[in-house]
Amino acid sequence: MLRFSILVALLAPVVLGEADHATFLNCSRVPFCTRLRENVPDASSLFAADIGGFTEENNNIVHVPLSNSDGESLVLQISLLEGYKARVKVVEPDSSRYELEYVLDGEPETLPSVNKLSKDKENKDKSFLKCLSTINQANQSLTLFPADEQYYSVVVTSGPPFTVEFYLGETLEVVLNAERLVMENTNESIAFTFTVDYPGATALYGLYHHAHNIVLRQTGNGFDPFRLRNSDVSFYELDSPMALYGSIPVVYAHSPDRTSGIYVHNAAEQWIDINYTSTQASTYFIIQGGTLDLFVLFGPTPQQVVRQYTSLTGVAHLPQIWTLGYHQCRFTYQTQEEVKEVVALMDQYDFPMDVIVLDDGHSNANRYFEFNPVNFTNPEEMLRNISVNGRKAVPISDPHIKIADDYAVYTGAKNKYFVKWANGSDYEGVCWPGLSSYIDFFNPEASDYYGSWYAYDKFNGSTPVLAGIWNDMNEPSVFDDTTEKTFPFELVHYGNILHRDVHNIYGFMHVRATHKGLILRDEGRKRPFILTRSSFAGSQRYAAIWTGDNTAGWGYLQVSYSECLVANILGHVFCGADIGGFFDNDGVLTDELIQRWYQAAAWLPFMRGHSNKGTPRREPYVFAEDVRNVLREALKKTPLFYEYPELLEYDDHLLLGSDILARPVFESNVTTSPLFYRGGSIITRNDIERPSTTQMVNDPFTLYVNLDSNEEASGRFYIDDYTSFDYNDFNDYLYLRFIYVPESHGVRIERLNGDGLDFNISIRRIVISGETPEGKPYNCFGNKFANISSLKTRTAIIAITCEIDLDRKVFFSD
Ligand SMILES: *[C@@H]1O[C@H](CO)[C@@H](O)[C@H](O)[C@H]1NC(C)=O
Ligand SMILES: *[C@@H]1O[C@H](CO)[C@@H](O)[C@H](O)[C@H]1NC(C)=O
Ligand SMILES: *[C@@H]1O[C@H](CO)[C@@H](O)[C@H](O)[C@H]1NC(C)=O
Ligand SMILES: *[C@@H]1O[C@H](CO)[C@@H](O)[C@H](O)[C@H]1NC(C)=O
Ligand SMILES: *[C@@H]1O[C@H](CO)[C@@H](O)[C@H](O)[C@H]1NC(C)=O
Ligand SMILES: *[C@@H]1O[C@H](CO)[C@@H](O)[C@H](O)[C@H]1NC(C)=O
Ligand SMILES: *[C@@H]1O[C@H](CO)[C@@H](O)[C@H](O)[C@H]1NC(C)=O
Ligand SMILES: *[C@@H]1O[C@H](CO)[C@@H](O)[C@H](O)[C@H]1NC(C)=O
Ligand SMILES: *[C@@H]1O[C@H](CO)[C@@H](O)[C@H](O)[C@H]1NC(C)=O
Ligand SMILES: *[C@@H]1O[C@H](CO)[C@@H](O)[C@H](O)[C@H]1NC(C)=O
Ligand SMILES: *[C@@H]1O[C@H](CO)[C@@H](O)[C@H](O)[C@H]1NC(C)=O
Repeated sequence: MLRFSILVALLAPVVLGEADHATFLNCSRVPFCTRLRENVPDASSLFAADIGGFTEENNNIVHVPLSNSDGESLVLQISLLEGYKARVKVVEPDSSRYELEYVLDGEPETLPSVNKLSKDKENKDKSFLKCLSTINQANQSLTLFPADEQYYSVVVTSGPPFTVEFYLGETLEVVLNAERLVMENTNESIAFTFTVDYPGATALYGLYHHAHNIVLRQTGNGFDPFRLRNSDVSFYELDSPMALYGSIPVVYAHSPDRTSGIYVHNAAEQWIDINYTSTQASTYFIIQGGTLDLFVLFGPTPQQVVRQYTSLTGVAHLPQIWTLGYHQCRFTYQTQEEVKEVVALMDQYDFPMDVIVLDDGHSNANRYFEFNPVNFTNPEEMLRNISVNGRKAVPISDPHIKIADDYAVYTGAKNKYFVKWANGSDYEGVCWPGLSSYIDFFNPEASDYYGSWYAYDKFNGSTPVLAGIWNDMNEPSVFDDTTEKTFPFELVHYGNILHRDVHNIYGFMHVRATHKGLILRDEGRKRPFILTRSSFAGSQRYAAIWTGDNTAGWGYLQVSYSECLVANILGHVFCGADIGGFFDNDGVLTDELIQRWYQAAAWLPFMRGHSNKGTPRREPYVFAEDVRNVLREALKKTPLFYEYPELLEYDDHLLLGSDILARPVFESNVTTSPLFYRGGSIITRNDIERPSTTQMVNDPFTLYVNLDSNEEASGRFYIDDYTSFDYNDFNDYLYLRFIYVPESHGVRIERLNGDGLDFNISIRRIVISGETPEGKPYNCFGNKFANISSLKTRTAIIAITCEIDLDRKVFFSD
């Protein structure tokens, strides 16, 4: 232990357990943030809207001229979108600002707009007039609203300062407030600021990624604005507004009776001040570049806001089943013998494991797509051995490419596919392999070139057992750079895009290229699994995320729930944190903490044990027998769930779907860990123990029937082939409803949806718990095996009855 501490002290100038504040800047050291944070424009620079001068442009966008008494002009652009959403931009009349591409999951559909005053009056109420605009001359306001049944509107008032108000019915939900609207437009800066108010809101959520509670706190009084700038921050701190690995510029505003939200469609660096008053919450955005492009989500329920947001940026495709099991990682397994040993010990000690993760030791000195020729001499055989119990391997692959003339990945991209300086020469920076250049994923050819290296015939030694890819260091991380260890702002991407304007989507573009590469590699037959450290709005379409290089400690265990809960409601459902903390925190990782961490981690969709170089080994088998037993139990209970959790105001509860509430233990010296099944639910479980999930696919299920006070219960169940896109392309899945039948103490099975009838579904037990109508507790353990693959028609009903034995409360026989 002592020897290791000395080693760290020699290698790293950073004090263990503290983020590097000399490198990672706060607002007062970033000129545009310092300049604009306290800025209050004077009266002559406040913009007024020329309500009467509005025009309707292509794509149903209403343009309203803006001007101030300093003689400056801007244009307000508004469109109403399908499904309770609206979009607002504020730009210069001749804007050359970068407009973000790639992030939206298709161009959102705008409602056709018709000017009620200037168009044929008699047609104004006809249903084909989808969006109406009305001007009220007395109070100088312009109202846009859909003419059909939908019930939302956008009102522009002239000001100065003008406002754009967003109403759901009569309720004012969101206001774009121009009191502090500034659009710098000089050679030195195109930074801009604006305020969004949420009348009535008592809590704001969002702005992933911060190591912070799920409710965003008030900033100011010494607390920096929340910052969004993808950064590789070692030893990141708790309760901090510092920018971390990902950026999702979404805010949900919650009041006791409704929820609304905004998405700021912009990938430049952002700082966001939060202010709660007795009547509203508000957010002040300070953004370095790109366009002021705001989407408003009208809600009104949390679930609707989440759907409105994901209708813009997309949802993840379903994962393959093995990705939901346990992943074992370490920085780094150094030889193929070590990999063999870890796998063998996991088996020997009876720990389930789906994935062995190959960190950089597997690679040829961080030349990705090449196995280490000294220590991994027979990757095919190693992978074949790993697959014996249905397991997979996931190797790391980063966006930096070592500069070496004998490295084909490099030579094929040199002077062509790398990110460049303004003078056209390839940018070079230091990362794990030494001096490297970085793929410019904004160039479609470069992106395809990179993706093509995942092909089995190009990545020598790879086989289908190398089933997923881990994309790390993609903020991107540059060890020697002067600008907070990442790209300088002035680098230029393909299409003459300044890095300043797209910094936060570099990692998004990386995983997008990998996703396409894996689709091509497997000829579209498998759902790609990619794990990424850097994320942005929309990257859920391509990759799972984890919370980066966390630290051992109770606070980090708890914050992993806050981080993933926030990610989940922002579309990134597939989230987890390194179990035990990546960085060791000398002595903090007690037996008690590692047990609680495995127990809690089992309830997050992505479950991985990982640890830094030089830390004490931490695979589950290294612990004493009593600890091993707890870890084994946690790994065997890992739920293979995948559903959007509810928006909760607690950082420490996780609601899985609507039926399971997990409250893991995040504190020392606590002896109980509640897990609640909702009364009235039926939970489907596979209770047969296997080394990996792929070996469970034909196992029969157990139904846990949790009766409510009316002696009723029902549940839903989804199954597909766990691997392909056939569920999407051919409806090849089955979605069933289980309904408890009190008369027979059995379960009726109905087909709700899906055409897949070839799945091997069987029920071997029904466990009923709850109270009899007389209020007596009873447990019934049935033992009926039913093969329901014969469920032929949509309305078919299969009943399974359960034998009750009131005298025998526990009856385990098969
Ligand atoms: C900003 O960071 C510098 C350097 O770490 C520090 O000295 C200063 O106190 C910080 N300012 C604020 C307001 O936190
Ligand atoms: C403007 O006047 C109209 C008609 O009286 C009213 O419905 C609307 O609420 C007013 N808008 C504002 C912003 O005062
Ligand atoms: C701004 O940049 C343009 C083009 O590079 C140059 O012509 C102009 O002189 C610059 N203006 C100022 C004020 O520096
Ligand atoms: C919060 O908003 C209130 C009301 O607009 C204002 O008086 C106060 O100064 C704001 N606080 C901060 C820290 O911005
Ligand atoms: C191979 O593994 C040994 C440890 O067994 C390590 O010392 C050595 O650096 C590794 N060599 C390479 C080329 O990775
Ligand atoms: C594969 O497994 C066999 C049988 O256990 C073993 O002899 C061999 O060393 C393993 N190969 C690798 C590369 O792990
Ligand atoms: C291009 O600019 C970079 C950064 O200023 C510099 O390091 C490099 O030498 C320049 N290349 C050429 C060919 O001038
Ligand atoms: C893979 O192997 C082939 C044939 O041995 C060789 O031509 C190719 O350069 C290798 N590729 C890499 C990336 O090492
Ligand atoms: C847990 O209990 C032990 C023994 O009573 C005590 O020494 C320790 O301080 C407690 N830890 C915490 C975090 O309360
Ligand atoms: C169905 O599962 C049984 C074991 O429960 C297995 O023997 C059989 O091969 C499976 N059938 C298919 C089509 O996978
Ligand atoms: C279930 O039934 C189907 C068709 O009725 C049959 O093909 C299959 O083998 C059965 N599975 C088991 C595990 O009995």
